[in-house]
This record gives sequence, C-alpha cells and structure tokens, in this order.
Amino acid sequence: MKKIKINGGKDLIGSIKISGAKNSAVALVPASLLSDGVVTIDNVPNISDITALNEILEYLGAKVTRENDKMIIDQTNLENKEIPESKAKKLRASYYFMGALLGKYKKVEIYFPGGCSIGARPINLHLKGFEALGANVIEKGNKYIITAENLKGNNIYLDVPSVGATINIMLAAVKASGKTIIDNAAKEPEIVNVATFLNNMGAKITGAGTSEIKIIGVDKLNNGFTEVIPDRIEAGTYVIAGALMGNDLKIENIIPEHIESLTLKLKEMGVPLQIYDDYLIVSKTDNMKPVNIRTLGYPGFPTDLQQPITSLLIGCSGISILEETVYENRFQNVAFLNEMGADIVVDGRKIYIKGPKQLSGKEVIATDLRAGACLVLAGLKAKGLTVIKEVDHILRGYENIIQKLQKVGADINLVDE
Ligand code: UD1
Repeated sequence: MKKIKINGGKDLIGSIKISGAKNSAVALVPASLLSDGVVTIDNVPNISDITALNEILEYLGAKVTRENDKMIIDQTNLENKEIPESKAKKLRASYYFMGALLGKYKKVEIYFPGGCSIGARPINLHLKGFEALGANVIEKGNKYIITAENLKGNNIYLDVPSVGATINIMLAAVKASGKTIIDNAAKEPEIVNVATFLNNMGAKITGAGTSEIKIIGVDKLNNGFTEVIPDRIEAGTYVIAGALMGNDLKIENIIPEHIESLTLKLKEMGVPLQIYDDYLIVSKTDNMKPVNIRTLGYPGFPTDLQQPITSLLIGCSGISILEETVYENRFQNVAFLNEMGADIVVDGRKIYIKGPKQLSGKEVIATDLRAGACLVLAGLKAKGLTVIKEVDHILRGYENIIQKLQKVGADINLVDE
C-alpha cells in the first residue's frame, strides 16, 4: 500500500513551480474531441486524472502523443462508442465526455462519473442544460443515454453556478444551431481557459468569466492550440505550506489575481507575503490572527482550499470559523487533525478552530484529494512522523508533490509497504 511519510518541522526554502491546472486540463482534454483535426494542449500536468481521460480518448480512437508537458491529440479517426463504467468512474471529469460527444455526434452513452466523496454532487443541471438544447436524457441504472435529433440554442439559467454544468453546456452548445445563453454561469478561470480553447478551434463564445455566457453555434471546429493556466488550487496549497513552514519560500508560475481570496486572508492573519507579477514569497510567523472564511464560487474563497487552510488556522491565536457553502461533506480531515492535536468542532456546515495548537505526527487517512492535501500540510508542521494512507487521492491531483516538497527541504517520502 502506498503511503506518504513526513518528518515534520523542517523549514521550506527555495522555490516551487506551479503546474498546469487540473480542473482546466480535465475539461480541455475531452473538449478537444469537438475538433475534427489535430489539437495541441501545452502545460498539461502529469497526474493520474489526465491518464484516465487519455485512456477514454484512445478507447474512442483518438491518437494521443505526449511530449513532456505538451499533448497532441489527433481526432481524425474518432468513433462514438459507449464509455464503460470502469473508465467513467475513475474520475469526476469524465462527465465532460457527455457534453463533448453530444455536441459532436448528438449521441452519448456513458456511466455516472466517479471522483471524491465530498457530498451528493448531482449532475441535474448538466442534464437540464442538455435537455434545453433539445436532447433526450435516459437514465438506465448507472448509465446515461443522451441523444438529440438536432441541438438548438436556448436560454439556460443555472440554479447554482456550477463549474461542471457551465463547461458541459458550453461543450454541447458550440455546434448547436443558433444562440445559447448560459445565465448564472460559474465564473472560474478554468471556464475561460476552456472557452478560449474552443474559440481557437473556431467556436464563437463570449462572456466566459462573467455570469452570462453567449454561444453562437458553428458547423465545424478545426485544429486548435491552448495552454493550461497555472493551477490556482495547487498554488494556494503551496502558499499555505509556505505560511506554515516557509523561510522566504518562492511560489512561481502563478496568476496572483486567481488566488487573491486566499492571499487577502493570509494578509489579514498577518502572514508575511510579498506578491509580484507571476510569483510570490511567503514565510511563516508565530503571530497569526484568527479569521472567518466562507467558501464561495470564484472570485470567492474556493472550497478546494477550505481543507488545506484548516491546517494553518490551527496555529492562529483565537477562534477561526470556516463555513463550507458548496459541499455537504467536506470536513473529513477534521477528525484526523484533532487526533494530531487540533481543537476543531464541527457544527453543520461550519467548523470552529481554536488555536494555537501544536500538532504531533500520527497515522492518518487521505479520505479525498483536498483532505489529503490538508494532512500533508499538517504533517509538514507537526512534530514527529506523520503517515498518510490512501494517498492515491492526493497523487490524482498534485503533480510531483513529493519531489516539489523535497526540493525545498521537506522530509517527505512516498513508500510502498
Ligand atoms: C468543480 C471542481 C471541483 C471544485 C468545484 C467547486 C472539476 C473537475 N472539479 O467540481 O474541484 O470543488 O468545481 O469549485 O472542475 N450542483 C448541483 N447540480 C449540478 C451540478 C452541481 O446541484 O448539476 C451543485 C453541487 O452539488 C455543489 C455545487 O453545485 O454543491 C458546485 O458544484 P460544481 O461547481 O458543479 O462542482 P464540480 O463541477 O463538480
């Protein structure tokens, strides 16, 4: 069994370079199949979620070539087939094959997606969007069969600004006839990345990054190129590592605006932080003030950094309150942090973190991706040895996390025992 072992308490010095964004890349790869030609995606992170998507693309007949961070995908021999459960359930983002295959072939057969267990995570808004474009959705047990005679543009209002639904509806609508408007769309930078890529292939999308996205359908998408934006959640995770143990730790290849909701909170806490055009420098401090944080869609504080920042709030003098408004079940890290010495009380969707507390290493479990990231951060700070089990969740979303942390001085290892 793979485990991560961390001997905590080591200063982090040097620099960490941020990879391409997981949540962009996992949408760009399925989006590429809307092209009838060859597309190139640069700065693709080498994580297992991408390997799983490539397997699906290759199963459908695409030719995928990887040259370092670059992925070249030739779609000329693509064939529309049922995507089996064993492939779909490996990750959440397999749901983007719904919008992409529906948009291209007007038909898709796929099983329910997998992903972290952090709440109900329905996909009703994706399906409602497809139906609004003229598709018929049949659910047979765990499988979806979505078909359309024709896809026709429509006005679609999202009850919740869902990232997945916004991207999936964009994918289904780029080749629909006429105009589609997605209202109350999510505004995450990853959505802008996908829209820019589709436009590069010949789509006509405006307004991505705002709450109203307009799509004018086109007949054909051609060759295209894009670069994956830097991963703002990976960046945020390492900035928090720097606030815990950094000694002028440099975090490189970032878009500071994308992590402003985090850096503003860190400044409020008193964390020493200098922000430049595409990097920042962060150090630890002994005097951190408690803060209140509420997770929200972009540009609010991201739910994906809620668990990672909990590891830092443990060190603040006083009570911090964290409210999770996006998911129902995203506090599975708390019990393990308490075993390590934290004083955290869960009350519905809020947690109360009383600090400062010193953590001690323990054996813990990465129940999901960001809970795992939180435990890695806690392990970097804790006294003694932290052993994290079920680390596949972590490796799914963080490229070279062990090597990146070792390079700046952490005593961290991946072992198989
Ligand atoms: C994406 C990210 C995930 C991040 C989340 C919120 C990917 C692959 N994953 O997930 O890392 O935590 O955004 O920033 O990009 N909802 C519905 N019905 C739907 C869809 C969503 O009710 O059809 C609800 C969800 O239950 C949740 C909220 O909307 O409460 C936000 O979910 P959404 O933005 O869709 O998250 P994902 O796209 O799954």
